[in-house]
Amino acid sequence: MSLIKANGYNIAIGKDALKTLSAYLKKSKYSSYFIICDENTIRFCLPKLIMSCPALKDAEILELESGEESKSIEFSAHIWQTLIENKADKNSLIINLGGGVVSDLGGFCASTYKRGIDFINVPTSLLAMADASVGGKTGIDFAGLKNSIGTFAQPKSVFVNPGFLETLSPRHYKNGLAEIFKIAIISDKKFFEELKNLKGDHKIESIITKSIALKNKLVLKDPFDKGTRNILNFGHTIGHAIESLLLGTTNELLHGEAVVIGMMIESYIAFDKKMLSKKELDEIISVLKKEFAPQNILHLNFVSMIELLKNDKKTFKNKFKLALINKIGACKYNLEASEAQIKKAIDLYNSTI
Ligand SMILES: NC(=O)c1ccc[n+]([C@@H]2O[C@H](COP(=O)([O-])OP(=O)(O)OC[C@H]3O[C@@H](n4cnc5c(N)ncnc54)[C@H](O)[C@@H]3O)[C@@H](O)[C@H]2O)c1
Repeated sequence: MSLIKANGYNIAIGKDALKTLSAYLKKSKYSSYFIICDENTIRFCLPKLIMSCPALKDAEILELESGEESKSIEFSAHIWQTLIENKADKNSLIINLGGGVVSDLGGFCASTYKRGIDFINVPTSLLAMADASVGGKTGIDFAGLKNSIGTFAQPKSVFVNPGFLETLSPRHYKNGLAEIFKIAIISDKKFFEELKNLKGDHKIESIITKSIALKNKLVLKDPFDKGTRNILNFGHTIGHAIESLLLGTTNELLHGEAVVIGMMIESYIAFDKKMLSKKELDEIISVLKKEFAPQNILHLNFVSMIELLKNDKKTFKNKFKLALINKIGACKYNLEASEAQIKKAIDLYNSTI
């Protein structure tokens, strides 16, 4: 069992994480419990959670439809309504049992209900374990824009039980691996080498722990995303635009799948800006291609993508700002890229795929 100290809370990782959660609940004095699940985690994860934590046997269960569409103002209203109907008070606890959708949405609702009540994250997808459940960002999608409404709010604690991954689909497993590759590419070359040679998932607990530790280090330095934490956005500026454009279409991509394409395109931009060597560019492209087999994005409308990029939180006076790597294991932020540079990088990406 590993314990990582985060921004005022602990992250427990290991097969005894649920036992640790049970002990935590025993010594805390919450008036009532609300568990937010989606249609999969209610089936695959909730029974294990209740079995390990008898204190939760009378908890109110809120079930969402699975998927990004639930990160909406409508589902937020549904959660607030249920909290009110069940008389949740300032001493109630929300438990987010699910992937990044549940922790982003549940954290957002907890941090706004009665100006903020306690919540804990029990991540069940690889993406949520290694990334989304830590760092204190919560939020929902609004007006077609990813994470456009949200708060900074720290969970009281995070309990990572890798055993939950047994029922996760291979596609969602890869989706989580994408964010793990990202943290390695921006901050730890040795970790990138380890991931490159990964076979099977027998080391997943140590990989999750490393990924959380690397993210946590960045978050502790810059909890409100004013500076260095921005490097976590590598692959995300372009990735979010692609993800948003495809949302609701038959070509819809998962977050990590869009981020893989974003990382490849942004690596081409870094090379074009003479920040990244050809050797390292080629290495990143070939490793990501082999690991994730991304698709081309020839069908995407470039003008619509540029319009979305203008709405990106980092865009300043219509100037696109990106986090770009200068080598594997090091990343800079707030770097400008022109529309022409982005177009060139997208064309290069499409011609490589
Ligand atoms: N707050 C942050 O710092 C942060 C960071 C990265 C990503 N995110 C957000 O995270 C979201 C993506 O997270 P995600 O990929 O976990 O999506 P998700 O929550 O939709 O989960 C993915 C799928 O896996 C299913 N699932 C989860 N755990 C399971 C299990 N143990 N067994 C079987 N099925 C299971 C879910 O029902 C869902 O269908 C995005 O909205 C993204 O914006 C947030």
